[in-house]
Amino acid sequence: MRKINIFDTTLRDGEQSAGVNLNFSEKIEIARQLERLGVDIIEAGFPASSKGDFASVQEIARIVRNCSVTGLARSIQSDLDAAWDALKDGAEPRIHTFIATSPIHRQYKLKKSKEEVIEIAVGSVKYAAQRFPIVQWSAEDAGRTELDYLAEIVEAVIQAGAHVINIPDTVGYLPPAEYGNIFRYLREHVPSIHKVKLSAHCHDDLGMATANSLAAIEAGAEQVEGTINGIGERAGNAALEEVVVALHTRADHYQANTRLKLNEISRTSSLISKLTGMVIPANKAVVGRNAFAHESGIHQDGVLKEKTTYEIISPDLVGVSINSMVLGKHSGRHAFKTRLEELGMSVTEEELNRLFVQFKELADKKKEMTDDDLNALVLEEKLSK
Ligand code: KIV
Ligand code: ZN
Repeated sequence: MRKINIFDTTLRDGEQSAGVNLNFSEKIEIARQLERLGVDIIEAGFPASSKGDFASVQEIARIVRNCSVTGLARSIQSDLDAAWDALKDGAEPRIHTFIATSPIHRQYKLKKSKEEVIEIAVGSVKYAAQRFPIVQWSAEDAGRTELDYLAEIVEAVIQAGAHVINIPDTVGYLPPAEYGNIFRYLREHVPSIHKVKLSAHCHDDLGMATANSLAAIEAGAEQVEGTINGIGERAGNAALEEVVVALHTRADHYQANTRLKLNEISRTSSLISKLTGMVIPANKAVVGRNAFAHESGIHQDGVLKEKTTYEIISPDLVGVSINSMVLGKHSGRHAFKTRLEELGMSVTEEELNRLFVQFKELADKKKEMTDDDLNALVLEEKLSK
């Protein structure tokens, strides 16, 4: 099994979600929970961006001892200095510096030639490597960068001292096969690639961030970046809970694992939703309210006979303890009877037949049948005698 490092950027890229603004103590609470969850790296913020970010990154670097803490810096010395001041007391200070490499960004945003971008990248990596034991370098918009140029700049920053090379699909543009091919290409065309870890960083603009992250792992990435609940710029980042649970559930396929405590996922997800105010869609994979809910009679009957008929992830695995049977108009007799038994209501076969007819009539008018509804039905049935 290959070990995949999990790089959590909930507090940096995640906080860049429109409308999200976490305060100091909320960020500390999230960092502590991420440490409990067992991520390998916490990107705590962007120290040069504001005094508030500097203070929270500094505090997180000081208190988090069981994972590496990093901060983002543009390729400019003042950013790298601010990051060092914020991170130097950390258990394993690590810098994450970047520059855009795609033709669109070079031409319109940076107004720099290919050679100039390489020079800036190399200069910033050399400068960072003088102090930071671990230097991560990212090619912003790598997904839309010419492959031969990407290989050239990656070789140059490795020579300059980078330890981790991150390949962001910054605008969530690539399909999985194309994204995976970038990793294969770099492994074949960058002479010093064996000296570094390759990292995947995917955005979800076309809904492909999780698939792309997994494609990168298949193509040799040893680190995956993302956020809890997939929050982040625009449509968000890769949802880490989806990536790690996919790796776990299909370990036979990926032959890779992480050190995450999966049963902390639900708690982490709820905390982040509560503090960011970003509601989790009910049908969201792994952490949505309905992710383990079975409503139709056929599914309920199957699950009651053998869970794995319709359940590929056990709710316990990710720390969810729920009654996964949702009783509604699609539910069958088997689930109805089981729930009555769980509620301690004993009914005869004849009563059950009558109750089930009434249950269906009522369920047709309601979204979900609650335990109170069942109680009322049974009470009425008993009193009618
Ligand atoms: O999406 C992106 O390119 C980024 C970089 C700053 C790593 O978040
Ligand atoms: Zn990003």
